[in-house]
Amino acid sequence: ATCNDASAAAPSGLASPAPRQPFVIGVCGGTASGKTTVCDMIIQQLHDHRVVLVNQDSFYRGLTEEESEHVEEYNFDHPDAFDTDQLLECMGKLKSGQSVNIPIYDFKNHRRCSESFRKVNVSDVIILEGILVFHDQRVRDLMDMKIFVDTDADIRLARRIRRDTVERGRDVLSVLEQYADVIIPRGGDNHVAIDLIAQHIRTKLGQHDLCKLYPNVCVVQTTFQI
Ligand code: ADP
Ligand code: C5P
Repeated sequence: ATCNDASAAAPSGLASPAPRQPFVIGVCGGTASGKTTVCDMIIQQLHDHRVVLVNQDSFYRGLTEEESEHVEEYNFDHPDAFDTDQLLECMGKLKSGQSVNIPIYDFKNHRRCSESFRKVNVSDVIILEGILVFHDQRVRDLMDMKIFVDTDADIRLARRIRRDTVERGRDVLSVLEQYADVIIPRGGDNHVAIDLIAQHIRTKLGQHDLCKLYPNVCVVQTTFQI
């Protein structure tokens, strides 16, 4: 019998149970919603099990020289910013019981650390967290459970400004430039915000028409925050 022939080794003709595949949990949510914090707290509670955390951030592609020169135009919130094939390869290995080396991403320089990796060992539970982990069907199909961390956008923005200026080498302006221009708390119930936005769009359209009529004299205002 080969090593894979479990029934040959089992007493009384009973097959020994196949090794259980790790339970995979996907944790998604907006930036600075608290995904990592929630995962760390779950891991603490499950201290009697082997639980590993895989961050989608680790699979950010490093920027090319050309992209680095125009980093303010690069969209880090688009699925193409991640190497999802590599993430799938790592998750596939972990699921089948192999340990893997996961890249380490340097947010300050928008690059991967070329020399070092984080070794992730075989485990009972794999938690995969990230802003876009529910985007790709192949990644979703790996998950036995999906969790969405929901935190108000204004709280997330406050946290992100603090974290990115302290830990990720950003200034406040660059964080704001990456963010939405307007946040509407309470959605459709917020009539004041919607009125203000409609008013602003009307003003913009007026400017737009003026620009078409008098292209040489028109000054276009481009930012708007409430
Ligand atoms: P994510 O992984 O979703 O980006 P993090 O868990 O890293 O979010 O949290 C983002 C920032 O907000 C971190 O600096 C973290 O310390 C802080 N933070 C997370 N949860 C809370 C909370 N409940 N209260 C205050 N600050 C928090
Ligand atoms: O930890 P968090 O989930 O907030 O990380 C994702 C965020 O990091 C994204 O919203 C993205 O805009 C930002 N990011 C960045 N610079 C990079 C890579 C990601 O600001 N080089």
